[in-house]
Amino acid sequence: MVDSRQLGLMSISPELVVAQAKDGGLIARDMSSDDLAQVMAIENNAQASPWGRLSFEESLTKSHFCRVLEFFVENDQRLDSREPGLDGHVVAYHVVCPILDELHILNVVAAPQYQGIGLGHRLMHDILEIAKRHQSQRIFLEVRASNEKAQSLYLKWQFKQIGLRKEYYRPSASGSEREDALIFMRDFDQV
Ligand SMILES: CC(C)(COP(=O)(O)OP(=O)(O)OC[C@H]1O[C@@H](n2cnc3c(N)ncnc32)[C@H](O)[C@@H]1OP(=O)(O)O)[C@@H](O)C(=O)NCCC(=O)NCCS
Repeated sequence: MVDSRQLGLMSISPELVVAQAKDGGLIARDMSSDDLAQVMAIENNAQASPWGRLSFEESLTKSHFCRVLEFFVENDQRLDSREPGLDGHVVAYHVVCPILDELHILNVVAAPQYQGIGLGHRLMHDILEIAKRHQSQRIFLEVRASNEKAQSLYLKWQFKQIGLRKEYYRPSASGSEREDALIFMRDFDQV
């Protein structure tokens, strides 16, 4: 069960995030080390095998692109002005790594209570923009065989399954067996 207080998002309703998403009230920007407390809270609640803080810190110092979607509510009349600090809440993030003419997606996450309202599509749009700027020819990622939600998202963004790594993932917190990874690729030459 997700504890929204841990995520620092208690006073923001999903309805408001949906409205903000439709109004363009979410901005994508580079992640900084100041975001890591929020990012780690989301990561620990959203992922079957969460990254540790060190992995994010390493990505921030390497040539990885670490990006967050931030809730942007400045001057929003729908909010009670007595609510402090609603601006600047991270609701989703991704980490991608360019290698020559390829882009590798390392992490893609939407905060659990805001999944299913379009944040995944917003993250993929941001990743595709990075790929375009880098003139990447292909984008690769690995996804758990059981993660149908993420697979559905990638298929909608024209990724195709190109391979499988047997028992690639350690058991998740709720499982006892290793799990296969499906390898997905989007090839810009073929679209
Ligand atoms: C995968 C993830 C990023 C998707 O984010 P999201 O904000 O829920 O996605 P969106 O609301 O933008 O929906 C995008 C697509 O995902 C799929 N999807 C979303 N919710 C779904 C559900 N409950 N069942 C099946 N597919 C679903 C659909 O294809 C959807 O497209 P549509 O809305 O056009 O039908 C999110 O579920 C998540 O963070 N999961 C945990 C971390 C994770 O597994 N990351 C991927 C690792 S490879």
